[in-house]
Amino acid sequence: MPVVPLLCLAALVGSAARATAQEHLLWFQQPATTLIETIMLGNGRLGAAHFGVVGNERFALNEDSIWAGSPYDPANTGCSAFLGQAREIVNGGSWQEAQQFLNAHCMGTPESQAAYQTAGSLLLNVSVSANSITNYRRQLDLNTAVMTMAYTQDDVDYTREAFVSFPAQVIVVHLSASQPGRHFLNASLISPMPNNVTRATANNIISLTAGNSPGGGGPSPQT
Ligand SMILES: *[C@@H]1O[C@H](CO)[C@@H](O)[C@H](O)[C@H]1NC(C)=O
Ligand SMILES: *[C@@H]1O[C@H](CO)[C@@H](O)[C@H](O)[C@H]1NC(C)=O
Ligand SMILES: *[C@@H]1O[C@H](CO)[C@@H](O)[C@H](O)[C@H]1NC(C)=O
Repeated sequence: MPVVPLLCLAALVGSAARATAQEHLLWFQQPATTLIETIMLGNGRLGAAHFGVVGNERFALNEDSIWAGSPYDPANTGCSAFLGQAREIVNGGSWQEAQQFLNAHCMGTPESQAAYQTAGSLLLNVSVSANSITNYRRQLDLNTAVMTMAYTQDDVDYTREAFVSFPAQVIVVHLSASQPGRHFLNASLISPMPNNVTRATANNIISLTAGNSPGGGGPSPQT
């Protein structure tokens, strides 16, 4: 069961975070349209790429253990029997022949590595009015590794913050507004992977399970 991302989603309404002067910022004045423009957050195991679309927010999620196929050992134990012969060819100066000989007898099994796969996405459908959105900005503070996005609509200042905690091993998303009772949203988890199932397991808790796909001609997939 490789996929069960743990998400902590806190939707609180309070005062918007005050902007502080920061020196090391990566910032954008529009939402990301491709993965390369997202703000990427992570703790070495969990990753979240933030897109920053006001009405249809998305965090693309990663977890370290989610790969194609199932666990396998690519060590080619038969190689040692050919090592002496390979050395003789190398010492004889026939580089190309040595390369072909090693390719035939000493490469990993399977030869290619299985692919890293997605844990799915957290979607936040946030209600927006027809009026214009101003003061849009999203930024990553390189000192704190906290993403902050802000915008104004209908005289309300909205803020989204996210970070990935290493000690707690969670992805934290925090939404706030400058006036109470002005934030309406639906949260969902989706996955493009086989056997994906999203459930509301309790009040305000959603869970996603999914399988992976076959790895490069090697081991069969797991769910
Ligand atoms: C959230 O879901 C409810 C029920 O399906 C729907 O009425 C509402 O419009 C949705 N809101 C947003 C912002 O998507
Ligand atoms: C969120 O919006 C997308 C696209 O507009 C829609 O497909 C999806 O059903 C919505 N989800 C919720 C939970 O409202
Ligand atoms: C979920 O799984 C189904 C069945 O394998 C697949 O057709 C679909 O593309 C997957 N992704 C989503 C987002 O439903």
